[in-house]
Amino acid sequence: MSNEIWQLQPYLKERVRLVDSALDRYLPGAEMLPTRLHEAIRYSVFAGGKRIRPILMLAACEAVGGEIKKVLPAACAIEMVHSYSLIHDDLPAMDDDDFRRGNLTNHKVYGEATAILAGDGLLTEAFILLSNKDVWGDVPVENARETINIIAKSSGSRGMVGGQVVDMEAEKTPIDLPTLEYIHTHKTGALILAAVEIGALLGGASVEQRRALCRYGEAAGLAFQVADDILDIVADQSQLGKDVGSDQQRGKATYPALLGLAGARQHADELRKRALSALDIFSASAQPLREIATYIINRPS
Ligand code: IPE
Ligand code: IPE
Ligand code: MG
Ligand code: MG
Ligand code: MG
Repeated sequence: MSNEIWQLQPYLKERVRLVDSALDRYLPGAEMLPTRLHEAIRYSVFAGGKRIRPILMLAACEAVGGEIKKVLPAACAIEMVHSYSLIHDDLPAMDDDDFRRGNLTNHKVYGEATAILAGDGLLTEAFILLSNKDVWGDVPVENARETINIIAKSSGSRGMVGGQVVDMEAEKTPIDLPTLEYIHTHKTGALILAAVEIGALLGGASVEQRRALCRYGEAAGLAFQVADDILDIVADQSQLGKDVGSDQQRGKATYPALLGLAGARQHADELRKRALSALDIFSASAQPLREIATYIINRPS
């Protein structure tokens, strides 16, 4: 692991703590009825995710000199959407995986019906949070509305859900590189781009800053999934916390499957460079974003 990544670790750790404690405050308690459902939700949310989407949102906000407390609710909402997407992604009807975030998948513990409903509940919870005026402080209503619109669009059939459908279809049909890019930019890239764009918006970015951060978010989002494809092949299961070799077993369309492992690694590095060059207009305030771009393609899990 490079020195650059090592220095990022305490920053990430502190941010994970901040996000986790906010999520804990915002989500229904495990004792709230129906307790089994709320337990199932909390089981997946607090199983030790990297929180990269909320962390990117906070870092984008900081890059433009914004206050991170203004983005914390939206950062939690995006993590709720992401966690729901993982619960559903692991279901037998989708990737049929047994391990996630170092534990058994939600449906393995709670059963399929509860896992589906835990996902539904989490998605809805994100919008309960976002539509609650008490969490927005002095954020202008127009910015809150735009945030909700960005999260909704990037999560639904125009974003993550759309990418998931094409991902499933591609299990049966050989696909070309543009289709693979569509899958990855939608199933994974969309939420990552949304996180960065919302950080920019709520942080008070200029038009030029927001455009640059969106270019960063696009490249980093695609790089994140290319790296995820690579990890499915090269990672150690106990470190990855989820099934390895799952993509090949299901005949998934991945970058290593289309370009080979070396080709996929090279593409991830090109995307990292593209993400970094988008940050040229920023000074030291974008240093966390720069280091995260490198972390994204070198991460161990
Ligand atoms: C896994 O996401 C699914 C993808 C979109 C690649 P993460 O790698 O961010 O998973 P967690 O949240 O850290 O568990
Ligand atoms: C996941 O892609 C994308 C979403 C959950 C939206 P993968 O299916 O590759 O994610 P992992 O590898 O199971 O985490
Ligand atoms: Mg999947
Ligand atoms: Mg999967
Ligand atoms: Mg994967």
